[in-house]
Amino acid sequence: MMLKKHLLFICLGISFFSFSKVDFVRVMFNSNGDTAATIGWHQVSGDTAVVFWGTEDISSSKPELYSNKSAVDAANQFKNFENRFVRLSNLQPNTVYYFVIKDNEGSSERYWFKTTPDSSEDRLSLIAGGDSRTRRDARQAAFKMVGKLVPHAVLFDGDYTDIDNEQKWRWWFEDYKMTYTDFDNRIIPFITTRGNHEKSNACLTNFFDCPAKNNVYNVTLGGDLVNVICLNTEIRFGGLQQKFLEQTLIDHQSFFWQIPLYHRACRPHVNWKMKMKGVKEIYKKWIALFEKYAVRLAIECDSHITKTTWPIRKSKEEGHEDGFVRDDENGIVYSGEGCWGAPLRVPDRIRSWTRDYGSINSFKWIFVSQNDIELRTVAYMNVDNVQALSEDTRFDQPEGIELWNPANGSMVHIQK
Ligand SMILES: [Fe+2]
Repeated sequence: MMLKKHLLFICLGISFFSFSKVDFVRVMFNSNGDTAATIGWHQVSGDTAVVFWGTEDISSSKPELYSNKSAVDAANQFKNFENRFVRLSNLQPNTVYYFVIKDNEGSSERYWFKTTPDSSEDRLSLIAGGDSRTRRDARQAAFKMVGKLVPHAVLFDGDYTDIDNEQKWRWWFEDYKMTYTDFDNRIIPFITTRGNHEKSNACLTNFFDCPAKNNVYNVTLGGDLVNVICLNTEIRFGGLQQKFLEQTLIDHQSFFWQIPLYHRACRPHVNWKMKMKGVKEIYKKWIALFEKYAVRLAIECDSHITKTTWPIRKSKEEGHEDGFVRDDENGIVYSGEGCWGAPLRVPDRIRSWTRDYGSINSFKWIFVSQNDIELRTVAYMNVDNVQALSEDTRFDQPEGIELWNPANGSMVHIQK
């Protein structure tokens, strides 16, 4: 009898407060992480969704109490997903924003994210990687580790799924939620780049509201600390893309760091990948520009191995290997190459300027300050034994963390 009564009360409670049917809630930094963010989700059913948001944490049962309300800015139907986006701008830097999505069927859970500080005096923590194609156990561990390490943003470098269909994206988004479900719905903003397994540029525009149809754009973080340049190795490397690259490099010359992020590696460390188009094209069209504007770190993916080079410079002088020589003074460190759940390969094209290489499930964990960049490689598979960090401790080494520790050490130090 008691049990029946309890059930009755629970049912009554549910009828007074119903959840909206939204899923795969996500946040992207698409232009400037200090002052703008895009909230996206899949509208399972219901309609007329609006986002209630503000700096105060208000329960999802009373979304109207939030200080702001924004209608949907963009909507599309893609691979049977009903994607909705609200673009927030004029946000306060280094500030937590809470939000609830409300539609004609009810309200979502309460989520939150944080903008980046607008001063280069503050350090940034970033996670960079890609190739999350098929092995869900590894992919899930990586996503969960993102939640535990609390970076300011994730730089995701392409090849989300293997065959780019509805089911594979559903699984991807399901796994992506592990970045926040155990962490009070704190969403770490993503910066996205296209890989060769995304069949068209429409993937990024439709799933992440990528601001450029050709997926070539830039995102600034931390005032004038970092300009992240998202390039696309699946379209023409020259022409408009090259023009954009040069212009953004010029426009952000006064920034402390400019970091290009692109999927195909210029000099893959898996030999058969040297036949890929990007090898010639990146070398011809992009590298001289990176060097001209003093890039010091480039993120690459695609080969499903891990590698970091010594600082290297484009050169055909005697002793060069594959068109590069080591130059500790002015060279660029190339780091990658894509181990976020894709089947691992064995690196078999090693050069004298390769600093370290390996074959492990991993991503890059990067601390950026005015004076230097610290880059580590996290072997994320033991995530369940790793102590979660917080926003206050995000630059600490959490208990249990397994850092890749090759012959030349676990930390790569990059200086201006
Ligand atoms: Fe790839």
